[in-house]
Amino acid sequence: MEKPKTGHVVPRAVLFDAYGTLFDVYSVGLLAEQLFPGQGQALGILWRDKQIEYTRLVTTSNSGEFYQPFWDLTRAGLRYACKRLGLDLTTEHEQRLMNQYRHLSAFPETREVLQALRARGITTGILSNGDPGMLEVAVKSAGLEGLLDHVLSGDGIRKYKTHPDAYALGPLAIGLPARQIAFVSCNSWDALGASWYGYQTLWVNRYTLPFEELGTQPARTGTSLREVLGFFPAALAD
Ligand code: LAC
Repeated sequence: MEKPKTGHVVPRAVLFDAYGTLFDVYSVGLLAEQLFPGQGQALGILWRDKQIEYTRLVTTSNSGEFYQPFWDLTRAGLRYACKRLGLDLTTEHEQRLMNQYRHLSAFPETREVLQALRARGITTGILSNGDPGMLEVAVKSAGLEGLLDHVLSGDGIRKYKTHPDAYALGPLAIGLPARQIAFVSCNSWDALGASWYGYQTLWVNRYTLPFEELGTQPARTGTSLREVLGFFPAALAD
């Protein structure tokens, strides 16, 4: 495992993004393919892009009056994506896809990584755009209760990542400056936003994608959540 880069303090806490990072949204794509053969992948990508675009729209347009919870934006993104692709989204299809989104499994290494961090006395948590109701069900469905010290959502402040106020929830809740907290995300835009905010960031590049072309690089890049242990000196990681 790589040693922490010189000049970087060893983090005392780790925050994880939720959707696509701890919770595997792959099963949603499988169901989409089953319901709309040949269009599942296109629907999955457009749905996700629209969901995220809507978070940015409602966050940047005003001071919160057009805010809608992530669950509602997820449904709106699904409706838009289906219309755009000319797919007939029946009420039953919508319910099934949304239900799948609610009960996602965690990536296989999630438990062992959270356990390893906690065994080393590291504070753990989620910092997500998901609203508290969604996150509660997801944490429960994935069997991660008891392994997370914090489950933080931008819902309380009606702002989504990448707004700095959303990233500020981490240091506020944990009581440490961002530079002493590692932030882990599979979403490159989120890894970038977290790096800009001042976290030590690990981008988990599960799907061999390019990183954002905006100059800033994450502190670390890996292919699994396990690589978060690389932030800690060997004595701690063994
Ligand atoms: C999250 C989504 C955006 O914040 O991945 O959990």
